[in-house]
Order: sequence, then C-alpha cells, then structure tokens
Amino acid sequence: MDESPGQSPGRRGNDRSYSRQGSGRRLPCRRRSTAQASPQLGDKEKLYVLLGQVGSGTFGKVYKASNTANGRMVALKLIKMESEKDGFPVTAMREVKLLQSLRHENVVQLYEMLVSKGSVYMVFEYMDHDLTGVLSQTQFEFSEAHLKSFCRQMLAGLAYLHHKGIIHRDIKGSNILVNNRGELKLADFGLARFYQKRRKSDYTNRVITQWYRPPELLLGATIYGPEVDMWSAGCIMLELFTKKPVFQGVDEIHQVHVVYKIFGTPSIEEWPGITSLPWFELLRSSEDIPNRFRELFKKWLTPAGLDLAERLLTYNPERRITALQAMDAPYFNQEEPFAAAPTGLSTLQGEWHEMETKREREKKRKRDEEGGVGGDQD
Ligand SMILES: Nc1ncnc2c1ncn2[C@@H]1O[C@H](COP(=O)(O)OP(=O)(O)OP(=O)(O)O)[C@@H](O)[C@H]1O
Ligand SMILES: [Mg+2]
Repeated sequence: MDESPGQSPGRRGNDRSYSRQGSGRRLPCRRRSTAQASPQLGDKEKLYVLLGQVGSGTFGKVYKASNTANGRMVALKLIKMESEKDGFPVTAMREVKLLQSLRHENVVQLYEMLVSKGSVYMVFEYMDHDLTGVLSQTQFEFSEAHLKSFCRQMLAGLAYLHHKGIIHRDIKGSNILVNNRGELKLADFGLARFYQKRRKSDYTNRVITQWYRPPELLLGATIYGPEVDMWSAGCIMLELFTKKPVFQGVDEIHQVHVVYKIFGTPSIEEWPGITSLPWFELLRSSEDIPNRFRELFKKWLTPAGLDLAERLLTYNPERRITALQAMDAPYFNQEEPFAAAPTGLSTLQGEWHEMETKREREKKRKRDEEGGVGGDQD
C-alpha cells in the first residue's frame, strides 16, 4: 500500500483565514542599496524584494516579490517548517521533486529553491491571477472563445501531467493560475503523486477538495487513476460559465446528493463497479433522481460544450473521457467560436487571487450585516 487509504489528507475544506502583509503591491523594484525599508530575501546574487502577500494555504504563505537582479516578478511560496521535527517536510519535498520534473506551458514553472534566514521558499514564475479570483471580478468580461481557451489550456496541462504519470489530485479554481497574457497554468502540486501506469495502486481517497471530488472517491474508492482529475476538470469547465462552484456540498454525504440532484442517481448498468465501492450501500439514495443536467445547463453551454462537460462528468471512471481525448472534442475542433486566449486581460485593473476574492466577500458580508441592522432600526 502506497499511502494510508481513508486517512485524513491533512488539508481539506474550502475555508481558510487570510491576512495581508508585505510592503504593498505597487512598490517599484529596488536595488539592494536603496531597498533598506522593504523586506528582503536572498544573497548578493539573488535578491528578492517582497511586494505583498498573494496567497495563504495550509502549508505556507505565498508572496509576490521582484528579483532585483533582472526585474522579474516571482511568487515565493514559504514552506512551513514549524511542525517538522525531522527536517524538511515530506509533502513539500514531494511537491518540489514533482515540479522539477515538469516543463510545460500550462504548468507553473518552479525557477529555484531559496533558503533565507532559516526559511525555505519555492520560487515560481509570477501569475497575475488565479481562476477563482479572475472569475469573481466583473470588470473584464470573458467571451465564449476566452472560456474555451481556458478550458483547452487546462486540459493540455492535465494531458501533459497524465502523460508524465502524475495525478494532480487538487484541481480547483485557486490552484489554476492565469496571467495577463491570457495563459493558464496548473499549480499547487502539494497533493500530486506519480502513479503506476500499468497497475492501479491503493491510495488515500481523502484527496481533492470536496466540491471537486469525483463520485468514486466520495464513495470510498482507494484504487484510482488520472480519471479523478478529469471529474474536477469537468467541475471547472462548468464553473467557467456559471462563475461559481457547481457542486457545493456541506459535507461528504451532502456532496454526493448535490451531484445526484443534477446528474441523477447513477445506474448499475452505466457504472457496474459502483456496487463494490466501500460506501455504496451507506450512501445509496432511497429515491430515483432523474438526470437534469442538460435542462439546467443549456443556458450556459453550447451543444458541443454540453457534450464535453457530460463526458468529463461521467459517473463511471472507466468511461470518463481522458484529457487527450477531450482536447480532440468537437467543442474545440468543430464548433465555433474557436478558442482565443483572453489577451485583453492586461487591461484589467488589479490582480485577482482567491485571497482578494475572500477579502472582498468578507467586506461585503460585513457591509450587508451593518446595512441589515440599520434597516431593522428604520
Ligand atoms: N506562481 C504564483 N503566482 C501568483 N500567485 C500564486 C502563485 N502560486 C500560488 N499563488 C497564489 O497563492 C495561493 C496559494 O498557493 P498554493 O495553492 O500553491 O498553496 P497551498 O498552500 O498549497 O494552498 P492551498 O492549501 O490553499 O491549496 C494560490 O491559490 C494563488 O492564489
Ligand atoms: Mg492551493
């Protein structure tokens, strides 16, 4: 057994609290001699000036920084070491090793590792936005061709990973980065792992953030392959159009039912393997729910788009479309408009990461609450 199936992955759920640090995003790059007031990292050859925080995950904070030697923007992902008694954290080591073996236009590039004052950072190419952030803003409107391009770039990144024998296992909006040239790159390889292409191995099933987790994992499967990423890709494809996560379950049991409400209860004919999954009986639906997918989503997607989404969100993992097959779908190659990268994103004001989106949402919630109290008093 490669992992401990069924055990907690140590990072799940969709909520985290964020704080803002650093010296502000619009600081110009400074040379070492003039940068005394800004936080600095690195040695003589490589000096990074921190410009602000752009992300905060379970495993560490992510900062925007500039390399004063060449003016290039980078993202510095701090690796949390506190809880590590035995040296470098295993999960971070796995992420670094995987990333070092990858080079593709739709996978974020790890430039180097940096050790500064006892902290270890991964130095990445900087990406202006993530998908959660950029879909939440209303200033720049994406056309159908833009969304098709995002979808295709995501699939190209996944096809590359799967070809290299890697399952990502955490595809979601905040782990998909976008830059102002309209390029999309997969990021956050903290849960990714190499898989055996010929032999299906036994892995943990507590992977993939709940809303993007495929039905086989929700039903307890521990033997799986790259198909798990393809379900998440289907969720993202729909989210590109609806602008919010489609299957928002509050817990794992509810999650299964949220999916059933849209795609209907899975039949044994379409998915014979379902009966041997550990939690099949436990999560069996008492009623037969009809499939309402096309009826609900025809206002968002074109006919070829609906076909592709349906093939990504296929219950039976053996019948689910692969990334390579998906790139060949009529949606991309026959149906107009054809994909066009949203290069106009360079006109968008600000940078949109999940962190900003959460902060804005929090502000709005507070405003609404205050407004609500005022309203009551009136
Ligand atoms: N190269 C980058 N350029 C710009 N922003 C980035 C970059 N890498 C990460 N971020 C931002 O930081 C956030 C957290 O990064 P990442 O997902 O790699 O960390 P994590 O600690 O594994 O997060 P989580 O636990 O939230 O999945 C991302 O959602 C994204 O908004
Ligand atoms: Mg992440």
